[in-house]
Amino acid sequence: MKKIIVTGGAGFIGSHTVVELTSAGYEPVIVDDLRNSEARMIDGLTAILGVRPRFHRIDCADEAAMRSVLNTEGDVHGVIHFAAYKAVGESVAEPAMYYRNNIGSLAVLLALMNERAIPHLVFSSSCTVYGQPTSLPVNEAAPDRNASSPYGYTKVVCEQLVRDQCAATPELKAVLLRYFNPIGAHPSARIGELPRGVPGNLVPFVTQTAAGLRGKLRVNGNDYATSDGTCVRDYIHVMDLARAHVVALGWMEQRTGSTCEVFNLGTGRGNTVMEVVNTFAEVNAVDVPYEIGPRRAGDVEAVYADTTKSREVLGWTCDHDLRDALRDAWNWQRSLGN
Ligand code: NAD
Ligand code: WQD
Repeated sequence: MKKIIVTGGAGFIGSHTVVELTSAGYEPVIVDDLRNSEARMIDGLTAILGVRPRFHRIDCADEAAMRSVLNTEGDVHGVIHFAAYKAVGESVAEPAMYYRNNIGSLAVLLALMNERAIPHLVFSSSCTVYGQPTSLPVNEAAPDRNASSPYGYTKVVCEQLVRDQCAATPELKAVLLRYFNPIGAHPSARIGELPRGVPGNLVPFVTQTAAGLRGKLRVNGNDYATSDGTCVRDYIHVMDLARAHVVALGWMEQRTGSTCEVFNLGTGRGNTVMEVVNTFAEVNAVDVPYEIGPRRAGDVEAVYADTTKSREVLGWTCDHDLRDALRDAWNWQRSLGN
């Protein structure tokens, strides 16, 4: 079986990707120190897979620890690098911490991949690199200089680092995946998103409000130039996103010669905040109390993906819609029992 190191594999997107990798016949090896996750995610994976996944609890930016993992694992076919900090607001307050973990961990990995001639890399990037695009839907050729937060800039820098490494190492194949807004959970509700403290993202806040853990959702502004005045995003089911990583690996395996390609991963459709709130309430037959508040600093008005390249080159499209994702997000919230 082809072994794939999955850094951040106990996290939200990484855990779902571990499931999809296993279904496709790969052998995922999780490297995660649980700094933004919990052991329950490994237990949830064990329940879904019927077997405990291989798991190393270490800091993947620690070169000696990572080298020792690679020594233990032997022949490694590829790396999917999810491990990173991801909170936009926190990155404004703690930029050095963000640059150190997000760029440092990638630099360590690339050096070790080079040393061992590990041939495939999938890197988690973000639509945040586009900032507010000048035209929508946004395609991969749009300029990426408006990332607007230290977090966003770590993704811009990491993408460039991967491109530079690919240019220097013809045997290395890499794919940079720009996720739009991942939501939802595995349909079993055994794994999902574990936000720390008060959720900054919309859907975890909605699920916690519906569960009675938060009093009211605050909708961040309704005076944007959109259909109902609230911001537009491209919400993608995490299972579709997870499957795209497997598709990307297969695509790289077919390529001869040096490869470094960037792909948008979204549905291609935009939904407003109020559409998400109303759809959630309808699909799950629950109330979501909300109030309209001021705009959130740094928010872009609207962004959604042009999916032409991922469809035509990778042959990947989404199987799930917003309703599926909001149903699965609610089932996961309820499974937490709080
Ligand atoms: P997450 O926080 O749930 O998962 C990240 C995992 O990495 C966590 O389990 C954390 O414990 C681990 N981790 C972080 N630094 C580590 C380190 N140095 N060593 C070992 N483990 C470490 O986040 P996620 O939502 O699954 O995001 C995964 C990736 O996708 C990140 O790179 C993120 O920037 C990117 N991304 C996320 C979103 C989103 O909205 N969730 C959107 C675009 C891109
Ligand atoms: C969506 C919409 C909010 C919470 C972030 C990162 C981005 C990427 C995805 C990693 C916005 C509104 C939210 C609330 C609200 N992550 N909202 N009330 O901002 O599109 O993207 O996550 O790469 O980099 O910036 O997602 O879920 O925070 O917000 O009205 O309590 O919901 O203002 O319009 P965002 P989000």
